[in-house]
Amino acid sequence: MLATLGDPLRRLPVDIFAHPDFDAHEQVVFATDEGSGLRAIISVHNTNRGPGLGGCRIWPYDSEADAVTDVLRLARGMTYKAALAGLDLGGGKSVILADAKTQKTPDMMRAMGVAVERLGGRYIVAEDVGATPADMDAIATQTTYVSGRSNGVGDPSPWTAEGVYLCLERAVQHRRNTDLSGVRVAVKGLGAVGGKLVRKLAQAGATLFIADIRDDAAMTIAAETGATVVGVDEATSLNVDVYAPCALGGELDARTIDTIKAEIICGAANNQLATPEDGARLAARGILYCPDYLVNAGGLISVAREAIPLSDAGAEAKLRALPDTLETVGKRSDADQASMAETADLLAEERFKSKP
Ligand code: NAI
Repeated sequence: MLATLGDPLRRLPVDIFAHPDFDAHEQVVFATDEGSGLRAIISVHNTNRGPGLGGCRIWPYDSEADAVTDVLRLARGMTYKAALAGLDLGGGKSVILADAKTQKTPDMMRAMGVAVERLGGRYIVAEDVGATPADMDAIATQTTYVSGRSNGVGDPSPWTAEGVYLCLERAVQHRRNTDLSGVRVAVKGLGAVGGKLVRKLAQAGATLFIADIRDDAAMTIAAETGATVVGVDEATSLNVDVYAPCALGGELDARTIDTIKAEIICGAANNQLATPEDGARLAARGILYCPDYLVNAGGLISVAREAIPLSDAGAEAKLRALPDTLETVGKRSDADQASMAETADLLAEERFKSKP
């Protein structure tokens, strides 16, 4: 148990260095502004490859401890994602402890801009849950270390969908030695990324099964693509070749992994594995798991164009290289008899643990 201090309703772990999610983070900054009510935490995990780029999540956390856990985890995840995508970026993330609907104000976002500026470019802020391009515009009045503005590169989801599609195609090629025609794919989550992925798969001739908690989204996409709508719970364990989780993370656990019939998992959702051991569970069942942060890096590659010198052509090349990185991870995991998840982490660590 972590020791706590002060008001029990606003508990903060004192022992941050011993926090289970603390992993040699370079900096964790607590930022406040009395006038606007800003309470933020900025976490820079690693900057060996470049500045830490990562979104600002605006969320009414139940406790400060939850906010710390979230920001530590998210910042570390960005380091791994940027490294595997071959970007000259490190990992960082920020959280604002507020309800985006009722408490967020332009003043608060400007104060966040001041806090970001104080880090002198070690952290570049972007959008995340609860934040909008207008918020990034407000931040940009105080700092240049910001991406995702309203005049920026725009919606990252087409890039994310393209990257997942290319990796899924490569995984099928590797496992079944076929193209996507007639391959049975279940897609769960039909939002910005999942919807685009389904359309691309339909064009490639895949046989599609789709599910979303929003019936209207499922019906609309089914009418457009000829996909079969299935239940949300059913989608995970359907008798298909590929399962593409594109909703929320944490779904692949000891219980669900036992029920999966697909031989490939390749989807956009972040943090698909409930625990690190679940990567090994998938490998033990012979399921080819395409690591989430590898295949969904397209959005980050797109946003990076606003943060570092990276041309459109350069970004496109990095997007097209994602399936090659997946193949590298696959070959090495076979050679090392390690899971895909472990091998992806190892490759990322080799790329960021020393300065390139
Ligand atoms: P979104 O919010 O546009 O779509 C999510 C969809 O999932 C919605 O249609 C929602 O109704 C559905 N959904 C939520 N819970 C569900 C459940 N339990 N069962 C079935 N459907 C459910 O989100 P977006 O942008 O498409 O992102 C999807 C996933 O990909 C998320 O995990 C996100 O973190 C991840 N991701 C997205 C990127 C992007 O560029 N948008 C980049 C990298 C990762």
